[in-house]
Amino acid sequence: MSGFKELVFSGVQPTGNLHLGNYLGAVRRFVTLQETHDCIYCVVDLHAITATLSQPDLAAQTREVTAAFLAAGIDPKRHIVFNQSQVPGHAELTWIFNCVARIGWLNRMTQFKEKAGKDRENASVGLYDYPCLMAADILLYRATHVPVGEDQKQHLELTRDIAIKFNNDFAEKIAARGHGEGYFPVTEPLIGGPAARVMSLRDGTKKMSKSDPSDYSRINLTDDADAIAQKVRKAKTDPEPLPSEEAGLAKRPEAENLVGIYAGLSDTTPAEVLRDFGGAQFSAFKSALVDLAVAKLGPIGAEMARLVKDPGHIDSVLADGSARAAAIAERTIADVKDIVGLIRRG
Ligand code: TYM
Repeated sequence: MSGFKELVFSGVQPTGNLHLGNYLGAVRRFVTLQETHDCIYCVVDLHAITATLSQPDLAAQTREVTAAFLAAGIDPKRHIVFNQSQVPGHAELTWIFNCVARIGWLNRMTQFKEKAGKDRENASVGLYDYPCLMAADILLYRATHVPVGEDQKQHLELTRDIAIKFNNDFAEKIAARGHGEGYFPVTEPLIGGPAARVMSLRDGTKKMSKSDPSDYSRINLTDDADAIAQKVRKAKTDPEPLPSEEAGLAKRPEAENLVGIYAGLSDTTPAEVLRDFGGAQFSAFKSALVDLAVAKLGPIGAEMARLVKDPGHIDSVLADGSARAAAIAERTIADVKDIVGLIRRG
């Protein structure tokens, strides 16, 4: 992607119950990418209100996600950590993108269909427009790489389509401003690894999700060692021992999921996990998984609990990050207004 400086952007919604899927699919990878890239990590509070505007305590939920970022090891001084609503450019660029994206594109979004369910007429316009806000999040910083779990793939394809259409529609003006390869980068999704899609502990065919009514379906980052142990022990399995090769996981979704979780937490691959545990009964494997999960997640949960006791500190991290994010965002908004032909002050 020549011409664009590599920049990582990603976001997490403050909708409560941050879980192992969010950690393995996203946050843990945010931490690794800090070593190789400039990174911007956003608590997307404007997305959080698309399903329900009145959340139990949106501010506390926003601080909790921020605490998870910090506890997992994201450095808010070397990189940028902020909450979306403090930077007005997200909403401004969304409006422009509403006029770029086509209704047909949004009608294809499967996550809207899942979230709206049968009562689609009663879903908020914000929920429908969610993908345009997500494209604005990313392109406001002209980010080139976006680490996410697999469930966000279609949204990132839409982000690419919006960037391409904007670049094409304004090609001459953009070239005249010296942006030969287009104003917005065509962002690369970073999706992968054994835990790009962590499944429910109660049903290996369903995604682990914040909104699952059963708390036993997920491991929350705030769970203590006892809760983690109980949930792993109760996790659904099948009667066979673990296979020695990955091919033996086919049609065994629960086994595949637990092996993927083990691989994700231990930074190995399912093949390596099966080399160690092939032939083992689930009882033995689950004990090892409990030890691993408690060792990896316990310190993060404890640090989150410590951090949320000092909301003033978290708010100051978010204020600092928001000011630095806004400085970048303002340049993009000024450029976009000039490209589109909107008269602006100064
Ligand atoms: P959210 O808040 O639902 O989830 C945050 C991140 O966690 C990943 N994830 C999972 N990964 C693996 N297995 C799972 N079971 C699982 N569940 C969730 C998600 O893929 C995501 O990476 N739309 C986004 C937030 C967002 C965003 C953005 C992301 C808003 N703007 C811009 C990237 C760039 C979302 O709902 O994430």
